Amino acid sequence: MKRIKILTVCLGNICRSPAAQGILESCADEYGVDLEVDSAGTAAYHVGECPDSRSIEALGDIGITIANQKARRVVLEDFDYFDWILAMDKDNLNYLRQIQPDNSHAKLVMFGEFAEGVSLGEVADPYYGKEDGFVKMREHLQLMSQSFIEHLTAHS
Ligand code: 4NP
Repeated sequence: MKRIKILTVCLGNICRSPAAQGILESCADEYGVDLEVDSAGTAAYHVGECPDSRSIEALGDIGITIANQKARRVVLEDFDYFDWILAMDKDNLNYLRQIQPDNSHAKLVMFGEFAEGVSLGEVADPYYGKEDGFVKMREHLQLMSQSFIEHLTAHS
């Protein structure tokens, strides 16, 4: 299977999408799949910052390091560079649909609905909540990542 390039996208690029990147990279290693993964935000509030410390900790608890990531905003070139763009929720998906250039390459989907028959929902934004929201986010993203990579391996 050839290398597949994936961009995970949330609002701030400090909670959900960096976690999704770390989990997808870890899953890819487990499944022996060649993925290049990056993450970005639809908003610029946190550009240049490391992930939220609660995301770093929730991922660190399962041995995944995301502290070296730096937040950036989605750019139009992303729609041609990446094969898949995975939005964490409907608001971010709708925004991405609005800016997606015509005839661009990337398959733009909500992460929880990456294929027909897949219905894993939106990834709830944990930013304004407590630490347990970050554990739930992690568990949700693990389920989605496994399901997504199984889909890639089954359709390659
Ligand atoms: P994320 O969470 O989109 O999962 O990174 C958020 C981070 C920051 C803000 C909102 C959501 N904010 O409003 O600053």
